[in-house]
Amino acid sequence: MSRSEPLDRNLAFELARVTEAAALAAARWMGRGDKNAADQAAVNAMRVTLASVDMDGVIVIGEGEKDEAPMLYIGEEIGNGLPPKVDVAVDPIDGTTLLSKGMPNAVSVVALSERGTMYYPPGIVYMEKLAVGPEGKGHVSLECSVQENIRSLAKAKGVDPRDLTVVILDRPRHAELVEQVRQAGARIKFITDGDVAGGIMPCIEGTGVDMLLGIGGAPEAVVTACALKCLGGEIQCKLWPRNEEERAQAEANGLPLNKVLQMDDLVRGDDVFMSLTGVTHGELVGGVRYTARGAYTETLAMRSRSGTIRRIHSHHNLGKLSRYAAVAYG
Ligand code: FBP
Repeated sequence: MSRSEPLDRNLAFELARVTEAAALAAARWMGRGDKNAADQAAVNAMRVTLASVDMDGVIVIGEGEKDEAPMLYIGEEIGNGLPPKVDVAVDPIDGTTLLSKGMPNAVSVVALSERGTMYYPPGIVYMEKLAVGPEGKGHVSLECSVQENIRSLAKAKGVDPRDLTVVILDRPRHAELVEQVRQAGARIKFITDGDVAGGIMPCIEGTGVDMLLGIGGAPEAVVTACALKCLGGEIQCKLWPRNEEERAQAEANGLPLNKVLQMDDLVRGDDVFMSLTGVTHGELVGGVRYTARGAYTETLAMRSRSGTIRRIHSHHNLGKLSRYAAVAYG
């Protein structure tokens, strides 16, 4: 960010308020089996709170193209228009199904980076992903086999391959990958959804996860890259067209189908701000918990330039908030 702009403030603090609001608005929907209503509640809250942030933002990673998403759509201008100019990635709820079923690791996420630095591959729904924590950074590559990566990561961590745990989305498309991981000797933690949390887990002590592998959402890849810039981990990705039509369209758009996208391809530069609040309880953060007076939230607020990671425990007085807040906390 240019020093002439009135930013040397840490926007991660403001983003924490944004993801807290989205998590609080969505958490009432836990276990109610309605993922769309849960997502809508989070989107509404996130939009209102993001609009008040001192920034001139454009959504690069959002809820979809303008014609399919009325709010937080790609290209929407957000913030109060004051400097700095930033790209914005939002995932109001990653793991809407997790939330609707009351399962772990539904999170609310927002990231910011300097204008023009976030990657958006139009028409691409999925990317192949490999993510590791700081100890694995520089020791793995999507150009290498699964076995080579597992061996190399084990060596870097000073453990045996069978001591490693790889997190993988439980999907039929991963049958061959699962076989390769098993042959390499590592353990597998299957997740039904939520590969943003899965991709961050290798960076956080105590999660017991060493690596994320597999194909998941393309927007989630960019969001994860923002988090890993702050946490010192690494994610590499490859565009993964779902069918011939998508492949042909990607080729026509000149997208780099065979390239391994590195961190800087996904989000360039080193001034990334990120906030993640738990909606349901998980390995990274606790979920929203209600009390007689309100609700607790837990948030990771981070900035890549400083490398500071804050774990913010907040108690929200919902009675007071409901008297003036523009967000419906339920
Ligand atoms: P939503 O919360 O938007 O439903 O996304 C959940 C998620 O599991 C992501 O974390 C992941 O990247 C993607 O969906 C995987 O897609 P699919 O369910 O199509 O395999």
